[in-house]
Amino acid sequence: QILPRFYHEKVIDHFNNPRNVGSFDKTDPTVGTGLVGAPACGDVMKLQIKVDEVTGEIIDARFKTFGCGSAIASSSVATEWVKGKQMEEVLTIKNTEIAKHLSLPPVKLHCSMLAEDAIKAAVKDYQTKRAKVNGDSEAEP
Ligand code: FES
Ligand code: FES
Repeated sequence: QILPRFYHEKVIDHFNNPRNVGSFDKTDPTVGTGLVGAPACGDVMKLQIKVDEVTGEIIDARFKTFGCGSAIASSSVATEWVKGKQMEEVLTIKNTEIAKHLSLPPVKLHCSMLAEDAIKAAVKDYQTKRAKVNGDSEAEP
């Protein structure tokens, strides 16, 4: 199951050349941080978005994933997909789309689920932070 040939080439590509690995300062008010874990395997994914406060566009993204190749590939794809999009848009990214893009087998679906959850958590974190800054809990970017 962990033999490389088990994985589709896109997974191996993202595993060997992950895009956007790293971290932003999570105290930066323009950064949203999503930290999620998979109870099934204990893998952990951190995904961060950097938002243009005027336009609400996600201008950059980073991830750090302690997990399997599929989780790393899923987070790599997720950071690519969120860039240049509005926050409401990225909330519609489904783990099944990521899984399909990477041709993940059914046993690896929860790995792409981590990426979907991490995107949502990052957006939520940004919105919570922003609401605090604005002193308005209804703040919508
Ligand atoms: Fe990476 Fe398509 S192969 S986003
Ligand atoms: Fe758990 Fe992939 S095996 S995230």
